[in-house]
Amino acid sequence: NEKYFELNGGDQMPRIGFGTWQASDEVLEKSVSEALAAGYRHFDTARAYENEAALGRALSRWIGGEPAKRKELFVVTKLPPGGNRPDLVPEYFNNSIKDLGLDYVDLYLMHTPFAFVHVPGDLHPKNPDGSMKVDHSTDLIAVWKAILKLKDSGRVRHVGVSNVNEEQLRRLCAVEKPACLQIEVHALCQQNSMIATANDLGIPIVAYSPLGSKALADALSEKTGREYPDLLKLPIVQRIAETHSRTPAQVLLRYTLQRGLGAIPKSTNQTRIKQNISLWDFELTDREMMDLAALDRGENGRICDFSFFPGMEKHPEFPFKH
Ligand code: A2P
Repeated sequence: NEKYFELNGGDQMPRIGFGTWQASDEVLEKSVSEALAAGYRHFDTARAYENEAALGRALSRWIGGEPAKRKELFVVTKLPPGGNRPDLVPEYFNNSIKDLGLDYVDLYLMHTPFAFVHVPGDLHPKNPDGSMKVDHSTDLIAVWKAILKLKDSGRVRHVGVSNVNEEQLRRLCAVEKPACLQIEVHALCQQNSMIATANDLGIPIVAYSPLGSKALADALSEKTGREYPDLLKLPIVQRIAETHSRTPAQVLLRYTLQRGLGAIPKSTNQTRIKQNISLWDFELTDREMMDLAALDRGENGRICDFSFFPGMEKHPEFPFKH
């Protein structure tokens, strides 16, 4: 069934999930309930988003104590950069699952290949000059082994990684293949090389910021001077949308699906929440796929670029890209 990725052991992961970053608790609870009503079953959060409790409340209301309904869901959360040390992994995982109010999560990801300094109670520790407190001693393999161990508890069904580069992905695979890879992918940053590598390795990819996260892009523009167009307003995207009587967002998401990826668009608007999962009854032509492929800017299109964090260049895992 094209709507799902089949993971090891036969579990099905819906290819369209609901992204939850950067929404207030109240707005998030409401939009998660709307997403459930619209048919979303895959929900993506992270310890670092500080919204697991709100997501958990909305999910628990829907589950209503029925194990069969819990089984319908695919819930993803992530180890925060401040927990990227083997000895901290169990503690951070426990905190996540407690806040989510679930007995197990379906997928647990290493959020980043670098670490922030562990400061209890502060997931985003900063230096006096405002830069992040980066821990330069991250041992990626040791953290991955600790994450893999979580599976023994039965409280996590699958484990994977996010934001790694190809070399890092191969290194992790030498220990054990991640069940899933979550990376930034959208029309400006198409990740052709990484996608080819993950396909070779047989690792399904979920695209974050599939619509180009315009707010995040604008914030980065201020720092770097790079200009990011609004993907939803690009003439070629609008023209293809008109041809199919769809919205630009649906065209961009359909493009992501036809590239073989999953995607986790975020929205707090009920109409757009519905739109973003109504993608299975139209198809882009080869010509349209080629026109959208031509929008790629490679590394210059990357929005979530950790290399811009001051002090990062000294990190042994730098530059976190390909
Ligand atoms: P909103 O919550 O008002 O819908 P990404 O997932 O790439 O980070 O994109 C999220 C951004 O895209 C949010 O600002 C969201 O705003 C907007 N968005 C989500 N879905 C749609 C859509 N179908 N049409 C237009 N904008 C959308």
